[in-house]
Amino acid sequence: MTRNGLRTFLALPLPRRIRAELALLQGGLRVGRPVDPEAMHLTLVFLGEVPHATLDELHLALEHLLVPPLQLRLRGMGAFGRDAPRSVWVGVEPNPALERLQAKLTRAARMVGVDLVSRRYVPHVTLARLAGRESDASEVAGFVAARTGFATSEFRADHVALVASHPARNGPNYELLARYPLA
Ligand code: 2AM
Repeated sequence: MTRNGLRTFLALPLPRRIRAELALLQGGLRVGRPVDPEAMHLTLVFLGEVPHATLDELHLALEHLLVPPLQLRLRGMGAFGRDAPRSVWVGVEPNPALERLQAKLTRAARMVGVDLVSRRYVPHVTLARLAGRESDASEVAGFVAARTGFATSEFRADHVALVASHPARNGPNYELLARYPLA
């Protein structure tokens, strides 16, 4: 925690059985640091460093979301940083309800004054983080190419989590701040 605010994000938690399916994939990658399956999640909006007062306002805005639960399936694979990979991830089957929820949360965050970077939303669940080395590129490309057909079973997401990310030596520690039921 910093004095003025918290580094936070909104995400959909993943059921244990889905995280177990993803953990099985991780073993096949010989480079990078695997993400702890306990910490795997689907980020909806990365909020960045947010002042406490703004977080309180966002919390009030999200308490009554009026969005039904989502049926999701993770599908496909990709990497960020093609020539110098920084992460390997599993994608999400295209889902209009997910896009709508993401847009609604983005609007809510902007309404309370969160300064968001405008980037295209690429829904994904990170499997491993890498150092951005060109020498890892062929291993990552091979790993991804061999698993393009990967898909999990379907699952239901019934709440959004507001999570704080605290930097630590072995990757960030996540702290659940609040849950917003989808109902
Ligand atoms: P990532 O898994 O691809 O790194 C917490 O950091 C969550 O917010 C992660 O899931 C991370 O995605 C996501 N995120 C999105 N934009 C980010 C940014 N600019 N910095 C850090 N994390 C970001």
